[in-house]
Amino acid sequence: MNTANQSLKPVTAKINENSHIEIGGCDTVELAEKYGTPLYVFDETTIRTIARQYKDAFSKYPKVSMLYASKAFMTKAVVRILSQEGFGFDMVSGGEIYTAKTGGADMSKCLFNGNNKSIEELEMAIELGVGLISVDNFLELALLDNAAKSAGKKVDILLRVTPGIECHTHEYIQTGHLDSKFGFDLTQVDEAIELIIDEYKNLNLTGLHAHIGSQIFETSIYYDEVKVLLKEMGRIKAKYKLNLTHINLGGGLGIKYTENDCPPSIDEIAQKIISSIYDNAKKYNVDEPEIHIEPGRSIIGTSGVTLYTVGSSKQVPKGRKYVAVDGGMADNPRPSLYQAVYTAELANRPNDIPSETVTIAGRFCESGDILIKETKLPELKEGDILCFYDTGAYGYSMSSNYNRVLRPAAVLVNNGQSDIIINRETYEHLTAMDVIPERLSK
Ligand code: LLP
Repeated sequence: MNTANQSLKPVTAKINENSHIEIGGCDTVELAEKYGTPLYVFDETTIRTIARQYKDAFSKYPKVSMLYASKAFMTKAVVRILSQEGFGFDMVSGGEIYTAKTGGADMSKCLFNGNNKSIEELEMAIELGVGLISVDNFLELALLDNAAKSAGKKVDILLRVTPGIECHTHEYIQTGHLDSKFGFDLTQVDEAIELIIDEYKNLNLTGLHAHIGSQIFETSIYYDEVKVLLKEMGRIKAKYKLNLTHINLGGGLGIKYTENDCPPSIDEIAQKIISSIYDNAKKYNVDEPEIHIEPGRSIIGTSGVTLYTVGSSKQVPKGRKYVAVDGGMADNPRPSLYQAVYTAELANRPNDIPSETVTIAGRFCESGDILIKETKLPELKEGDILCFYDTGAYGYSMSSNYNRVLRPAAVLVNNGQSDIIINRETYEHLTAMDVIPERLSK
């Protein structure tokens, strides 16, 4: 069965009777008029569909917890929707913990992860009852033990390890290879375990955590990841008589950004993971563990699109034609950061025949602010609305106020209804944190 991460567009996308692109029963041209552009639009049906496809795909295994990787895109409304779907949250900062808590997440289903958590963040996680902390390094073991002791609590932890698996994705988003800033090298695990057994009495080691990378298309590396973790569990059991019960496999499943991308389905990934557990738990003499899966991009990426309004254009004599839109690298830094490729369509005239090859440029003051290097579209005019697909993950969440441009709004659409989930910034928001020191007023 195909799953929604394999689709280029949100599951509700279609061309409506006005010959406009419609998402979640809402006409995108009307959304652009009502809320302004740039505008992030999130389709609730796609979010829930993918969340359910994950749950179905893993339902063949009895002990699974689904965590959403908040870093992909997090707002209180997203927390609410995914909590309703039974998800916990993978969080990497005090800000994400705060959003989960205030959005109504069940904190006991959540995990705090990251390679340099502050003492304040660790204390906050303990105080708010975050279910598991994935400890990344030796300093954190000491800090967390201390914080747990002060709070009078025993804290359940995982050890984040680097399993030594390389995946074929952009080098900035590979994380599981050996030369990585994240986690304990497998050769350091014994030292960490001995410290936990001998000194850190306020920590309860329950399992191992790994994440091999993002935008992954290969299914076999999930098989290998499970194998490495179960082998390590077997080794730990034999050496320390310690029965670890959990493995967290991270996220990483890819999505379809262009017609050429063919990501695997959620079922294919689940099948590799589950078969590896059955093969390797026996082989390494460990009990079948509870598994955590923490997808980000594949839950929210396809669910979100960005609407931009076309402005100026420039035909370079004997060169390319640039068409500029009212957003760019500040609301979606992925093209300039990772050479990410997107697919755009003309929301107000999607049936027109693509007739010219253009470069879609952003509005920010850098030559590198190009959203799409080359795409064939109908002739674009000022005021046209472009719909960029698959911008839901790591777009808004990595946005900035570069050039002091206001961050866009985000709306949630469903059954013809649209609701703001993030307000558009105003100039007052933009300058709210600025302070002019008194002495400059003299
Ligand atoms: N778990 C851990 C420990 C992670 O580090 C990540 C992502 C995930 C889960 C979720 O991975 P996903 O399912 O979204 O692939 N900004 C980059 C992606 C960075 C991913 C960082 N870690 C991008 O825009 O492509």
